Amino acid sequence: MHPNKNTVFDCKLIALQQNHNTNGKITAINGGYEVPFEIKRVYYLYDIPGGEDRGGHAHLELEQLIVAASGSFDLVLDDGVNNRVINLNRPFTGVLMPSGIWRELTNFSSGSICLVLASHNYEESDYVRNYSEFKIWKSV
Ligand code: TYD
Repeated sequence: MHPNKNTVFDCKLIALQQNHNTNGKITAINGGYEVPFEIKRVYYLYDIPGGEDRGGHAHLELEQLIVAASGSFDLVLDDGVNNRVINLNRPFTGVLMPSGIWRELTNFSSGSICLVLASHNYEESDYVRNYSEFKIWKSV
């Protein structure tokens, strides 16, 4: 585990391009453009039962862009020192997440979809799921 000094203030809100049409809208997200990393994986959370929370972990290396593709939810961020809550409620706003940030996702609206673009393939070894270990890692 290398030391990781990223803070919640390094999590950046970005405006995604909206293309309007009379029959709806479309937003494109491009690796290397809106997203600074090469996109290796896309996944989405959906059918989240009322009152359920997701997340509850940090990543050693993984970077992500998180978007409320539909509905809304709160991204609760923690870098071991600072806390920050970002309410995501538009499909054209994303949060760029560096590694080393503990996150919880809460307050999902009914039918919401959390879209995640990720810099690496899924690797359980990249997760920090124990909050005490996270705090020790971030204090190094
Ligand atoms: P996890 O990232 O812990 O979920 P969340 O942060 O949304 O609560 O993932 C939950 C499970 O889903 C995990 O045990 C393994 C599986 N999973 C994959 O197989 N591939 C993936 O890309 C992701 C994100 C999760």
